[in-house]
Amino acid sequence: MAIDDLADKVLDIGRRRGFFWPAFEIYGGVAGFYDLGPYGALLKQNIIEEWRRHFIKRYPDLIVEIETPVITPEKVFIASGHVENFVDPIVGCKKCGRFFRADQLIEEKLGVKAEGKSVEELTDIISKSGLRCPVCGGELGEVRLFNLLFRTQIGPYQGSVGFFRPEAAQGMFISFKRVHQVMRNKLPIGIAQIGRVARNEISPRQGLIRLREFTIMEFEFFFDQNEPGADEYIDKVRNEKLSLITADMRREKIEEPQSFTIDEALRQGVIKTPWMAFWMYESTLFLEKIGVPRTNIVFEEKLPEERAHYSRQTFDQLVKTARWGWIEVAGHAYRGDYDLSRHKQFSGEDLTVRKQLREPVERRTLVVRLNKAVLGRELKDKLDSIQQQIKSMSPEVLKRELDNKGFIEVSGVRLSRNHLVIEEVVEKVVTISVTPHVVEPSFGSERLLYVAMEYALREKQGRLILSFPRRIAPVKVAVLPLVDNEKIVGMAKRIYDMLKETDLMVTYDDSGSIGRRYARADEIGVPVCVTIDYQSLTDGTVTLRDRDSWKQVRVHVDKLVESLRRFIYDNVEIEELGPIFFSEEKE
Ligand code: ATP
Ligand code: GLY
Repeated sequence: MAIDDLADKVLDIGRRRGFFWPAFEIYGGVAGFYDLGPYGALLKQNIIEEWRRHFIKRYPDLIVEIETPVITPEKVFIASGHVENFVDPIVGCKKCGRFFRADQLIEEKLGVKAEGKSVEELTDIISKSGLRCPVCGGELGEVRLFNLLFRTQIGPYQGSVGFFRPEAAQGMFISFKRVHQVMRNKLPIGIAQIGRVARNEISPRQGLIRLREFTIMEFEFFFDQNEPGADEYIDKVRNEKLSLITADMRREKIEEPQSFTIDEALRQGVIKTPWMAFWMYESTLFLEKIGVPRTNIVFEEKLPEERAHYSRQTFDQLVKTARWGWIEVAGHAYRGDYDLSRHKQFSGEDLTVRKQLREPVERRTLVVRLNKAVLGRELKDKLDSIQQQIKSMSPEVLKRELDNKGFIEVSGVRLSRNHLVIEEVVEKVVTISVTPHVVEPSFGSERLLYVAMEYALREKQGRLILSFPRRIAPVKVAVLPLVDNEKIVGMAKRIYDMLKETDLMVTYDDSGSIGRRYARADEIGVPVCVTIDYQSLTDGTVTLRDRDSWKQVRVHVDKLVESLRRFIYDNVEIEELGPIFFSEEKE
């Protein structure tokens, strides 16, 4: 299929078969908001479920899931740096009043990279190149920064500012200490969240790719930077490959990605921390599960000026699409201890964790011992106040003074070695305090939904088929009575009722010819159709038809659920379920 054609067909199928459409349609729509229809909502749930299975269910010792509020008080985003830094450059047209994202407009119209440039640089590029409003041709104004946080008010109090979160991450940072305790002080630990986020994007025009409200699936993975505890995981994937475009390659204008083993990437310092490499590899496997071949997945490192304020290193995980070229479906950021340190500073709470040392270490400290008998005799009612003052002074300073002068002076009272002794004690320390570092893989589920549809779309003998990986198909099974015969319909309904009680999403279709019904099922991506025919009435078998090969096998009703489960979840070939007796495929 021609490339443009493919993209158009995804959009067409999306609308026609009810996967997605622009929201608020009857009021003319608002850019950046989309509805998901029945199949779209199911597809998205399945992608989310696959993500959950891939990252959480497969790593129960490493990752737990939580849920935190969407509306967040201002303090949190002041601390996180979003109030100051979550901004994009905006430029307005002086004639028609429309606004555009300045860096994107420049990239689109002039073909030069502009992400991360300052407002002055962008204004300069616009004026020097004579770039004008792409809609009315009017003159463009000065570039300024626009904050993407959606603002609201919490309760009736005007000063009580809240924001719709632009990422789920802050929920994990704020509740880190609690989760860490609940999970018996485990480190490393990942805290995941799947939920709605909103970003007031300046001019979203790319359908599901750039929304103002979407669902994010992300986890913050906390580890001790000095002892990441990643070896046993890295060892299993050391020789696996990642396709990378590093910041250095980009500076040298090398556009072709280069393949690095995880071992090479870590040894050469191309990826700064082992956990980031590990989750980048797992994220590649995850994308394969939703239908993207590895050859179409690349990780592009952001340049320092393009990175978010909290990031020490970021790789965008890109997927090739027919319509929009390479698009980012996930961001992998090494956030260091930025967020925990900022929340510690702004909330005053101790967000460090105590870490048990394998071997105790010795710590030398100075302690001040007062000779109370002598002091009490000499100071009488001044004793308490002098004692308090000594306690608040640093033992190091006191010792220095005593060593130098032979006495110290507190509120005009001279104290000598008769009154106090300062000595060094050696303690054994078994725990230390650590501010964990964090790596974050962050996926947008609507972009994945679009990508899954594009990669699933095939055309066969003039018909469109959504060949989703079976597990993510919105509907798993269609039950079809071959003809409108009372006994056949009765049996089909019984089978339908039986399947409704299982975990397999099932649909029933009895309208139109069987060929039309197969075509309809193919178009929404139903992996297998169960057809009940005359033979079913005599021997209790039904046919299973494979969406992708159009081959059919017969299976006894007693084995139906088991066979369907093997087909959907174990991904077996249709032939493994029974002998082929028919195929619609034309040679
Ligand atoms: P972009 O550069 O495309 O604006 P970003 O770098 O700001 O994205 P992140 O903050 O890393 O994106 O967000 C994590 C993921 O969330 C992205 O990889 C993407 O899948 C998704 N995402 C981000 N912004 C949007 C959006 N406006 N609409 C839909 N999905 C989005
Ligand atoms: N994760 C993107 C941001 O909120 O900055």
